[in-house]
Amino acid sequence: MSANLKEIVAKYHNKKGTLIPILQEVQRAQGFLSRETIKTISELTDIKVAEIYGVATFYSMFRLKAQGKYTIRICKGTACHVSGAKTILEALKDTLNLGPDDDTTEDNLFTILEVACLGCCSLAPVIMIEDKTYGKLTSAKIPEIIDAFKKEVNHG
Ligand code: FES
Repeated sequence: MSANLKEIVAKYHNKKGTLIPILQEVQRAQGFLSRETIKTISELTDIKVAEIYGVATFYSMFRLKAQGKYTIRICKGTACHVSGAKTILEALKDTLNLGPDDDTTEDNLFTILEVACLGCCSLAPVIMIEDKTYGKLTSAKIPEIIDAFKKEVNHG
């Protein structure tokens, strides 16, 4: 058991309503809440595993799977939606070899997040990779963008 996990839980022990802050802090420390982590939290807190899963799946801030090193935010706001965000998402999933329910690449390099308006609607449809914005996209541009980004971060 990670000492870190024990320390985090100990900080909140015996206080009511502490599950959410515990999960938040553990996720900050470990990146996501693995099955093993949830089991350990259950043992340390006496809160049932099912109850922890209930909370962890209810709130969208919690992640049960590893997060990729780089986040791709795809805008699902109105302007992007009407300009073809759906085909951009399909092109991204195609380029990254992701199945319909996957959001993270097998090499853990990228995670796709669907988000509300990114604030640059005149560039719709828009994605952001980390803090870089790519606008006026077509699905044909996606493989090239991913390639260029990988090269830039030395994963090409
Ligand atoms: S709707 Fe996509 S940037 Fe505003």
